[in-house]
Amino acid sequence: MIILTGIKPTGVPHLGNYFGAIAPALAYQNQHRCLFFIADYHALVNQPSAEQLARHSVEVAATWLACGLDPEHSLLYRQSDIPEIFELQWILTCFTAKGVLNRSHAYKAKLDQNPPEHPDDGITMGLFNYPVLMAADILISQATCIPVGVDQQQHVEITRDLALKFHHHYGQDVFTIPELKLTPHRRPVPGLDNRKMSKSYNNHIPLFLPMQQLQKLIAKIPTDSSTPTAPKPTTGVIYELHKALTSPEELAGLDDKLAQGCGWGELKEQLARKITHHFAEATERYHTYMNRPAEIEDILAQGAAQFRPAARKLLAQVKAVIGFST
Ligand code: TRP
Repeated sequence: MIILTGIKPTGVPHLGNYFGAIAPALAYQNQHRCLFFIADYHALVNQPSAEQLARHSVEVAATWLACGLDPEHSLLYRQSDIPEIFELQWILTCFTAKGVLNRSHAYKAKLDQNPPEHPDDGITMGLFNYPVLMAADILISQATCIPVGVDQQQHVEITRDLALKFHHHYGQDVFTIPELKLTPHRRPVPGLDNRKMSKSYNNHIPLFLPMQQLQKLIAKIPTDSSTPTAPKPTTGVIYELHKALTSPEELAGLDDKLAQGCGWGELKEQLARKITHHFAEATERYHTYMNRPAEIEDILAQGAAQFRPAARKLLAQVKAVIGFST
């Protein structure tokens, strides 16, 4: 299989990104060819400052490397270093029904927040076209499998439909039709307020936080006023986060402890310790990489150099099929 996944550089990734995207994607690394990329043109949709975009891209690269991406085995590249993606994006745009994008989740979510008399407020064509750029990322790579969370499922389905539509129109198959692989977590990791963990909800726990900051964030998780000896439910944010960090063998022990009763304070403290312990080595590696940005640049440049020849070749095939002389 050829695995592809991308992550938007919107700041240091959080636990939700880790469990939803980074860890499941890295798990493929030993057995499959893996392509990982920094979706910086996707991040541009949020109109960051130049300084933010540059910093976040480095932070995301350092995170993947710290979490175990091995640049000797896998590719890590920056989307903006692969101009072929953007030629392909226009080509795909011409085959995308506007109605499909009208129904796209990211766009609809924004639309639903707007008053009916100003439906277009704050909505750029970048946001509207987001699924097509993602389709170009995927199809240019000839990946066979895209491991993503449920929130990205629709985008992969749009990608498949677009490729099939293109094949049907020209009567030739040039693209690899990617399979969607939903990450095993049935439910995305909850954020501090029990909604899905997301930077846009500001309910996220960033990776690599120092203990004190972590404790402060976890302290914000609302709890009920039951006494410290009262049994605690095996539901809710604190439990779900514990669960994400607990092996199946140890989970029974946690469940017992909750059934017997324990204080929220203790559960919160344990959670902070568990997170710190789980990411201890990665945190060290993260800071090492962040102190050596030139090394990250090298890895990204090599990734792009290795990725581009195949991207060029595929684009040339696509253009030949369309009828452009290449
Ligand atoms: N849209 C994805 C996200 O927000 C990031 C992404 C961009 C991606 N292109 C991709 C993921 C291609 C997988 C494959 O998380």
